[in-house]
Amino acid sequence: MAQTVPRSASSSDGNPLRAGLSTNRIKDPCNVIFFGASGDLMKRMLMPAMYNLRLGDVLPVKYGIVGFSRTEWDDDGFRKEMKASIDEFSRSGEAKDPLWSDFAKHVSYVSGDFDDPKCYVLERNDSELGTEHNRLFYLSTPPGLFTKIVDMLDEAGLGPRDNQGGWTRIIVEKPFGTDLASARALQSEITKVFEERHVYRIDHYLGKEPVQDIMALRFANVIFEPIWNRRYIESVQITAAETVGVEHRGGYYETSGALRDMIQNHVINLFALVAMEPPVSADADSIRDEKMKVLRALRPIDPDQLVHYAARGQYAAGTINAQAVPGYREEPDVNPKSNVETFAAVKLYVDSWRWAGVPFYLRSGKRLAGKLSEIAIRFKDIPHRLFGESSDDIEHNTLVMKIQPEEGVSLRFSAKVPGPKMHIRSVSMDFNYGTGFGVVSAPAYERLIGDAMRGDATLFTRWDAVEAAWEAVTPILERWLMLKDTSFPNYAAGSQGPVSADALFDDEDDGWRRI
Ligand SMILES: NC(=O)c1ccc[n+]([C@@H]2O[C@H](COP(=O)([O-])OP(=O)(O)OC[C@H]3O[C@@H](n4cnc5c(N)ncnc54)[C@H](OP(=O)(O)O)[C@@H]3O)[C@@H](O)[C@H]2O)c1
Repeated sequence: MAQTVPRSASSSDGNPLRAGLSTNRIKDPCNVIFFGASGDLMKRMLMPAMYNLRLGDVLPVKYGIVGFSRTEWDDDGFRKEMKASIDEFSRSGEAKDPLWSDFAKHVSYVSGDFDDPKCYVLERNDSELGTEHNRLFYLSTPPGLFTKIVDMLDEAGLGPRDNQGGWTRIIVEKPFGTDLASARALQSEITKVFEERHVYRIDHYLGKEPVQDIMALRFANVIFEPIWNRRYIESVQITAAETVGVEHRGGYYETSGALRDMIQNHVINLFALVAMEPPVSADADSIRDEKMKVLRALRPIDPDQLVHYAARGQYAAGTINAQAVPGYREEPDVNPKSNVETFAAVKLYVDSWRWAGVPFYLRSGKRLAGKLSEIAIRFKDIPHRLFGESSDDIEHNTLVMKIQPEEGVSLRFSAKVPGPKMHIRSVSMDFNYGTGFGVVSAPAYERLIGDAMRGDATLFTRWDAVEAAWEAVTPILERWLMLKDTSFPNYAAGSQGPVSADALFDDEDDGWRRI
């Protein structure tokens, strides 16, 4: 068995990742097998996450990490590549000895095609590193290969049915299907080998600290829940805006678009956390049951009324941070006549006692004026204006949960301007994670891989919710695929998005928050 560097029980060694985490160690020994180990996600996110889990003393004492892809490396070649990736992308900076040398002993590589049964010999770590047949497979490959790999695992006797000695789990990267039919087909193939309790469908948004704080804000405070309903809330806006374009992912994006890439998964998941009823306990299924009930209560969108419920856009050339940037149709691997949307906005209603009549506005887009993910709860107007003329300055109270780049919560409320007159202005009360807790949030993948190793599925999406989210967007998707938008490109890079998205609001509404 490989020697391990002794684990410190406290943060007295000054390691910032270890502070507060020393009791957080995963108990079960575990072998984590990454399919797609030479890929972009592995380099930028997954291997740095594994290293930081080790650095923070979260990995179990006995663990193994296996990379699997076609690129021809031996174990040492793979380790060298992964060290370079950690050095470049890890939040803790360069991997240093003696920790790196110890970590590297747990890392190995299989070079070959996922089609090749000879490559599915992944159990060496059980005898050499003591991982006791506990296996976590991570599918970080092109989605078209998910089914093939699941079949091959089964054939090789590596599925849960054949693993009598330990547990078997599988993390599936997004996207889970490209429409309702393909998602159902993928699910049906996976369930031939894995039961639902073995499957961890990733939505990395759910691993972000501020997203998890939505539940704390709602259910660990007494002041919000009584007003979290149609009596006090006028509308909810959820935004996931980016300044980047499609970069090198034009080929993928041409088969996807903003509705499928962002709204169907990340944004709808945020919506469900905001709109769900209080769960009876914090266990994974209680929370996921409540999210599911909200999705089930979504009012179906009438495709003939689509213009009032959904809007799409595609970016033209423009300027971002004083830099000229090309339009979507000029990006690499993009059809010069592409009709794929890089912006999508949707208005949803939940037909329930809590939410009847409250619109939820969801939007996501690329090449917008700013990078911003937030949830804004806009409260109703005050019922009576006590302070006469000056009270015209009274804005709606707004609670904003900030997800990125700022992480925190901000409440906008009215206050009196100092002086002899009763002048009212809106002010903000802000909580910021960084300054509030004196820590930098860990990247979502660290949290999510650690949770999957522990068997905690709370932050992963259950199949029924994936299916319900596809059902919600399908009427829009089908109409958009059928009818080209002749106005494309219809917003300049660096702008607030297409004007057509304003049609989702009634005339008297304030409209979209500025990005
Ligand atoms: N990158 C991101 O930011 C991001 C974000 C969210 C979700 N995702 C999802 O994560 C997954 C991986 O993304 P990625 O960007 O890392 O993809 P990628 O860079 O294209 O990597 C794909 C990986 O799969 C391997 N592969 C492909 N075909 C194979 C085969 N037949 N046999 C063996 N290995 C094969 C490739 O290995 P070789 O090149 O060595 O053949 C490579 O390691 C995708 O499902 C994607 O949708 C990625």
